[in-house]
Amino acid sequence: MLDAGGGTGKWTIPIVRKGLKVVLYDISREMLNVARRKIMEEHLENMVVFKEGDICEIGFPENHFDFVLAEGDPISYCSNPHRAVGELARVLKPGCFMAAGVDSLFSVARTMLVRKGPEEALKVLREKRFFAEAWGFQCWAFSPSDLRSLFEENGLEVVKIVGKTVAYVSKPETEHLLQDEEKAEKLLELELMVCEEPSIVGYGGHLHIVARKKTVFTG
Ligand SMILES: C[S@@+](CC[C@H](N)C(=O)[O-])C[C@H]1O[C@@H](n2cnc3c(N)ncnc32)[C@H](O)[C@@H]1O
Repeated sequence: MLDAGGGTGKWTIPIVRKGLKVVLYDISREMLNVARRKIMEEHLENMVVFKEGDICEIGFPENHFDFVLAEGDPISYCSNPHRAVGELARVLKPGCFMAAGVDSLFSVARTMLVRKGPEEALKVLREKRFFAEAWGFQCWAFSPSDLRSLFEENGLEVVKIVGKTVAYVSKPETEHLLQDEEKAEKLLELELMVCEEPSIVGYGGHLHIVARKKTVFTG
């Protein structure tokens, strides 16, 4: 599988532990170096190929991977999401699945409204881009329908789009809920109950999409 924008191997490591071979692909050499160190500590390096590169131009042949993961917003961080999804779809085998997490437009707009006021919130909604102060660069944000179109235009059939998180919003005063195992279990139950509800998915802090590459793509 391809772990696109795989960073320090947060997902690669548990996936490799399950016995799958992974290409850990990231634009940042520093992130890959951290991942390499962690993976070598676990003696899992035979299962991982480390590759530095941009998801907008993936140097692998088409129909190559059985699964593509782009978790932790690399599609939001890249220069051209349409190109990135096109590339991720290109290297995926027909009939196989892709899963990706992106920044959520309405959640970002709401945060901007609270932090900077209505003008900034309107700007985000119009431009679908925002400056992430924590990272120091521009990011793309998506509504559920924009995300659906982006994937469909690239020959992918959308299986589901979920908001994460929708019911629970992390705040200092709610942090104690996660420390209590029973309450955390209930929170998870609550999230799973509502995270696919179309009327509120877009208010999730992030959006997560699962899609499948069509066997015949005419678009
Ligand atoms: C928030 S981290 C997520 C890492 C990992 N997927 C996870 O879930 O923990 C985002 C990663 O995307 C990578 N990234 C950003 N833009 C990229 C691009 N254009 N091509 C490849 N990787 C990119 C960053 O270097 C970073 O490692």
